[in-house]
Amino acid sequence: MKKFALLAATTAIFMTFCTIAGISAVNADNGEQNYTKEDIVYLQDFLLARETPDLSDKDYDLNNDGRWDVFDLCLMKREFLGSSDLPEDTGKTLVAYYSATGTTERIADYIAEEMNADIFVITPEEEYTSADLNWTNQDSRVVAEHNDPERHTELVTTDVPDWESYDNVFIGYPIWWQEAAWVVDDFVKNNDFTGKNVIPFCTSSSSPLGESGVKLAEMAGTGNWLEGMRFRSSSSADDVAEWLEEIGF
Ligand SMILES: Cc1cc2nc3c(=O)[nH]c(=O)nc-3n(C[C@H](O)[C@H](O)[C@H](O)COP(=O)(O)O)c2cc1C
Repeated sequence: MKKFALLAATTAIFMTFCTIAGISAVNADNGEQNYTKEDIVYLQDFLLARETPDLSDKDYDLNNDGRWDVFDLCLMKREFLGSSDLPEDTGKTLVAYYSATGTTERIADYIAEEMNADIFVITPEEEYTSADLNWTNQDSRVVAEHNDPERHTELVTTDVPDWESYDNVFIGYPIWWQEAAWVVDDFVKNNDFTGKNVIPFCTSSSSPLGESGVKLAEMAGTGNWLEGMRFRSSSSADDVAEWLEEIGF
């Protein structure tokens, strides 16, 4: 990601360099190219003005704008990640989340993008309105549910298509009263996580992840639950990518 930032910052220089170097588009139809890891490294090295092998027969102008630049690199990476050349050891990943107001959803999207993962949205049968979420109103739905030891949020479904195929499951939720929003409880209770890495993540105004992940792990009773992470609403895609790298993804 740091490399990417550096690349982005020097885009203008590279564009000029590419133009001066007379690199012209050889890609007329921009069809499927099946770029390899080597192509990514070559284009990256070329943009960084490092030594490369002879690239004159290469077709790296993915966006057909007559030059090779950082935008072509981004498109190449995206195409590569979407291809069958994906590293096999990462396994297949699902990001399952509940988000009442969009903050957790944004983080879930970053994870899914970075991991090339599928997404499952945990959806209550009766969605929470902003009045329902008003924790300052003692008559609101969340306050009533919070005070109810038998609370239970009915979900549209807890069945994930092709569930058996996933090696890693990220579970995202907002923190409500220092705990995981209970909307995710049934999802966790109704699925068998045996053989899967499970990584909780949450968003909150200020509360930490706390015991929320551990409690969900207890509810699930199966799965290899990792420690998890709390994100603030200002967390960026780079923050998420950094965390994923730290935990080995
Ligand atoms: C009912 C309710 C309870 C909340 N309790 C806490 C809390 O205990 N600690 C905290 O830091 N934030 C709390 N928040 C703020 C949310 O955790 C935070 O805004 C979160 O990022 C929202 O995620 P979402 O947009 O995905 O729903 C609460 C919000 C609601 C609606």
